[in-house]
Amino acid sequence: MRRIDLIAGARPNFMKIAPIIDALNEAANRGGDLRYRVIHTGQHYDRAMSGSFFEELGIPSPDINLEVGSGTQAEQTAGIMVAYENVLLKEKSDLCLVVGDVTSTMACSIAARKLEMPVAHVEGGIRSGDWTMPEEINRVVTDSITNWFFTTSETANENLHRAGVADEQIFFVGNTMIDTLVKQLPRLRPPACWHELKLEPGMYFVVTLHRPANVDGEQQLLRLLQAIAQGTGGLPVIFPVHPRTAKNLRALDRKMPHLNYVHPLGYLEFNYLVKYAKGVITDSGGITEETTVLGIPCLTLRDNTERPETITIGTNELIGTDSSKLPPALARLMAGQWKKGGIPPLWDGKAAERIVRTLESLLAAS
Ligand code: UD1
Repeated sequence: MRRIDLIAGARPNFMKIAPIIDALNEAANRGGDLRYRVIHTGQHYDRAMSGSFFEELGIPSPDINLEVGSGTQAEQTAGIMVAYENVLLKEKSDLCLVVGDVTSTMACSIAARKLEMPVAHVEGGIRSGDWTMPEEINRVVTDSITNWFFTTSETANENLHRAGVADEQIFFVGNTMIDTLVKQLPRLRPPACWHELKLEPGMYFVVTLHRPANVDGEQQLLRLLQAIAQGTGGLPVIFPVHPRTAKNLRALDRKMPHLNYVHPLGYLEFNYLVKYAKGVITDSGGITEETTVLGIPCLTLRDNTERPETITIGTNELIGTDSSKLPPALARLMAGQWKKGGIPPLWDGKAAERIVRTLESLLAAS
């Protein structure tokens, strides 16, 4: 029997880990010898940011919760490293599997590797080239010590090759976030605001903003909100507000016509809103993947992306963080001139199966 530590820490990790757990359970039911522990770092701890995802996506309760909670980047990194190291000093596993690019991803991979445990990185190899993003540092540090990379795109494979990673360490498997979307599509359900605001398919926008560059400065946040309110043709705009953004919104204390602030939504309700939206305006990376697969126009308020296939193949467009760029892009969308887009290779709902099959042979051989 070989055991894998599955690390989950913050909201975008949960939908990536859920299908891997399903595939590991199926493999065990078939008589396979892989087992796992779910380790929650506690980076996100609210019900809205964490608990609801475990329930909706059927993720088993964590075997261990490191309970790191809020803090600066260094406080969270250090807290997770110390707590995970303590767990490993009592009992190591055969592999540490991390997903995505959050602080928990980097912190656990460092702690594991220093105790000579191999690390697998799901969504390895993606790069924004933007060193002001904590996520870019997390990606590069994690990938510098990862043993096995499970990648979502050819671009990720190329980035890893350029960094000197050997071919036999890279496994192009597709996108586990899309596995979750494909599985949950039939279960998506409307949130309360759907009824309260009498929303209709194709007749509203969804907005999410949480990057420090957009939300930590009050004036930047205000300019973006004004541009959104002006450019959306009077259609309702639904804005599920991330806790980081909520602080500044409260300070701004500005109500805008058609802009509806709601609490962070669960997975099933959020993606229902996305599926029927006229368009999505966001600074998230993961959401650009979901809009690509759902074929919904996506306007990304960032100057770069680590997911270029959502632009070259999908429905995403980089608008930038300059609010003046938003109205002309929205005007194109309102005029029905947005590209249709396609689905990137292997984003087919079967990535986790490929990962588990690969892990079975890698761990059997190691
Ligand atoms: C983190 C990730 C980011 C991811 C995002 C999704 C890093 C570096 N960043 O950013 O990649 O896209 O999550 O949400 O790992 N808070 C709560 N409740 C919670 C969690 C956080 O109120 O359950 C508050 C914190 O106290 C803090 C703020 O939200 O004030 C930000 O949380 P934090 O974990 O520091 O980073 P995110 O901005 O959420």
